[in-house]
Amino acid sequence: MTLTEIRPEDLKPEQFIAAQVEEIRQAVGDGLAINALSGGVDSSVVTLLGHKALGPRLRTCFIQNGLMREGEPEYVVGLFRRLGVEVELVPAEAEFFSALAGLTDPEEKRNAITRVFYRDVFGRLVREGKARFLLQGTNYTDIEETIAGIKRQHNILEQLGIDPQKEFGYRVIEPVVRLRKTAVRVVARALGLPDELANRPPFPGPALAARVIGEVTRERVAIVRQATAIVEHELRTTPAFQYLAILHEDRVTGIRDGRREFGLQVDVRCWDSTDALQGTPTRLPFEVLDRIAGRITGEVPGVVSVTYNITAKPPSTIEAV
Ligand code: XMP
Repeated sequence: MTLTEIRPEDLKPEQFIAAQVEEIRQAVGDGLAINALSGGVDSSVVTLLGHKALGPRLRTCFIQNGLMREGEPEYVVGLFRRLGVEVELVPAEAEFFSALAGLTDPEEKRNAITRVFYRDVFGRLVREGKARFLLQGTNYTDIEETIAGIKRQHNILEQLGIDPQKEFGYRVIEPVVRLRKTAVRVVARALGLPDELANRPPFPGPALAARVIGEVTRERVAIVRQATAIVEHELRTTPAFQYLAILHEDRVTGIRDGRREFGLQVDVRCWDSTDALQGTPTRLPFEVLDRIAGRITGEVPGVVSVTYNITAKPPSTIEAV
């Protein structure tokens, strides 16, 4: 790896911002660029850097892949509008779900999402528009984990043998590629992003598909979305690194209203970590776990079992897929 990390202690946020803005300007020249905003801290930082550099010559899109959390498009569009950035919603749910139909292997699922995202959705936006540059929020950890062969992060094209310039007609610019999450958060605050966004727990590129074991269907995503909303609400004040809900493929026998119900299982995970490379499960109070289990089994249709992951990473990973 020829890239070197800029560590949080060496980061001078104002200087970093000025340098990246200049680099984006130089690269794009008088052309047009496009970027996808998911509402995570990485893509939010890239959006603001890009707008500082290019103003209206950057088109910012929120790709509606059908895999996002509850209320996410409204939240992202509203927040960026208040910051003076218009975000365009791009409907693409049907394309993502048809590419995911029948797939159960984790890497195949990730691959399908990457293809639809870069080749189909962005390929089309680029063909229809005049943007020749894609700004994206790849960070240092994404690169490291992909190179280590742990998981192919969805946003790394080279590992897929894809040259975006050749295959899709656009160049990729990665302004935060030398930063890990902690440093990206420092830049986010320096750019004036609100704390609620700068401090947002990480959320994976493949979105809720990274939390559905087995086939990713609209119905199964809806279940994990509801469980996620409950977990995020109940754990919103914990200082944990990340917390999530996973839908298992196996069913288990449960009992509801005195009847046998062969139902669904949700795994709750809450992580203490600094960089996502290693993690330990947070020692949550039992009353908190109890409330989460009660709400998920009471509110999410078909769920009869809730477990709490007590395994460290490694050998676990943070997500399940
Ligand atoms: P894992 O599950 O590999 O996750 O222990 C490490 C961190 O990365 C996030 N994650 C992803 N982020 N694209 C991303 O942008 C992905 O494909 C992806 N997979 C996992 C995960 O949420 C955790 O913070």
